[in-house]
Amino acid sequence: MIQFPKIIQGGMGVGVSNWRLAQAVSKLGQLGVVSGTALDQLFVRRLADGDKGGNMRRGLDAFPFPDMAKRIWQEYFVPGGKPSGTPYPPVPMHQRRDVRKLVELCMVSNFVEVFLAREGHKNPVGINFLEKVQMPHLSSIYGAMLAGVGYVLMGAGIPLHIPGVLDAFAAHHAAEYKLSVTGAAVGQDTQMHLDPADYAEGPLPFLGRPRFLAIVSSNTLATTMLRRASGRVDGLVIETPTAGGHNAPPRGKLQLNAAGEPVYGERDQVNIQELRALGVPFWLAGGYGNARKLREALDQGAAGIQVGTAFAFSEESGMRPDLKKRLMAQAKVGAGEVFTDPLASPTGFPFKVAQLEGTSSAFNIYQERKRVCDLGYLRDPYATADGNIGYRCSAEPVANYLAKGGKIEDTVGRKCLCNALMANIGHAQVRKGDVEEPALVTVGDDLNTIATFLAPGRQSYTAADVVRSLLSLSAEVEETEEPARVMEPVLAIA
Ligand SMILES: Cc1cc2nc3c(=O)[nH]c(=O)nc-3n(C[C@H](O)[C@H](O)[C@H](O)COP(=O)(O)O)c2cc1C
Repeated sequence: MIQFPKIIQGGMGVGVSNWRLAQAVSKLGQLGVVSGTALDQLFVRRLADGDKGGNMRRGLDAFPFPDMAKRIWQEYFVPGGKPSGTPYPPVPMHQRRDVRKLVELCMVSNFVEVFLAREGHKNPVGINFLEKVQMPHLSSIYGAMLAGVGYVLMGAGIPLHIPGVLDAFAAHHAAEYKLSVTGAAVGQDTQMHLDPADYAEGPLPFLGRPRFLAIVSSNTLATTMLRRASGRVDGLVIETPTAGGHNAPPRGKLQLNAAGEPVYGERDQVNIQELRALGVPFWLAGGYGNARKLREALDQGAAGIQVGTAFAFSEESGMRPDLKKRLMAQAKVGAGEVFTDPLASPTGFPFKVAQLEGTSSAFNIYQERKRVCDLGYLRDPYATADGNIGYRCSAEPVANYLAKGGKIEDTVGRKCLCNALMANIGHAQVRKGDVEEPALVTVGDDLNTIATFLAPGRQSYTAADVVRSLLSLSAEVEETEEPARVMEPVLAIA
């Protein structure tokens, strides 16, 4: 019988759930998950910062296509790191047909993150992607599979076609993925395509087919995923609207409370009994980061829980130490405030924002930032009048967005999550005049509970402290840790 982890450390982009955090959690027999979002960009910035500790280099040395690894190292590594106050190098933005360099960066960076998370133990590691960020999907998934990723988890959209991609790559076939293009004409070609054979530098390595977990927020979506997906869905993560990161919008017409946050009602409740009847393992997420909630989830028939916020503040996470510290100080006195912002994210989904001075949660910081769109992960592909595909982001400079046919009302309150999330993990872009991109921290509604993981006299806690605490009311869980699942993809040649 397959044993599943009781705790999934949720994917937290960009780089909050990095390889260190995922490795720490997986070593403990639970599921550590790296974020796959914008890893290409993050990888370039780590190399530009001089690859302190040599971890990226170690990962590159293990990459099965050495010429590709060498090209990337030679282009982006800066010995000793770039001088402070100078910008990170530009990386091309994603499109339906990415330039080869970008495909290679995605493959390599996803490989390295998973490779590092798998070092030193034999337990599975997962990778998390957002369905909304479609353009890097194929190359990212392939890179993660080359490193033997055990689970792919995906939400923020309906990832119906990912299971088929996993099957294709595991069988050494090319994979296709239909890009959602606003206003595309019937029959317009919007497929993305990746044939691993075009990139391999020898026989293709053996690849296991990772398990696929869809992150959904309703019974309807859960059923849709299981009925209509292009291949096997191995389980579901059910995320409620208290979870950190993006939230599903409320069902029906959007209503806001007095503070301006979306109001969730009865229709947004998930029926656990119906979920159980679907017959696949499921994990509950959103405010489940304590021992009592894990016990409750198990009693309801869940395989376990997915937890984000508690792990985001552990020592191993990639969040900037000063941000962790300031939010921890708020949490200790119960003063942490989280706003579910219906406008901030260019995805259009509500996005949870910790209220913290000096970050874009503050109106003055948001207003002072000059709109720039140079990372482009959240750009929305749209059909142009001449039958091509254009790309626009509602947080880009307003005039540019309007010139691309975007609507003015869609630009209001939009924040550049791409640049902010890079700033959250210590890789802020530097603009003219030594101006650094401001941070914007996302956390769950349960922010104030993070202080409960601190041992007396301690100012910080580790991922192991979180795992131990979560399991404290589910003692038998220790016996059901997933047995070592050996996947050595790079060694065996198909
Ligand atoms: C900092 C942070 C970033 C997150 N980023 C993502 C993400 O990139 N993809 C995703 O599927 N979920 C993301 N989430 C949601 C988590 O994976 C998880 O489901 C959620 O945090 C669980 O609720 P909790 O925060 O109450 O523990 C994020 C959560 C946090 C706190």
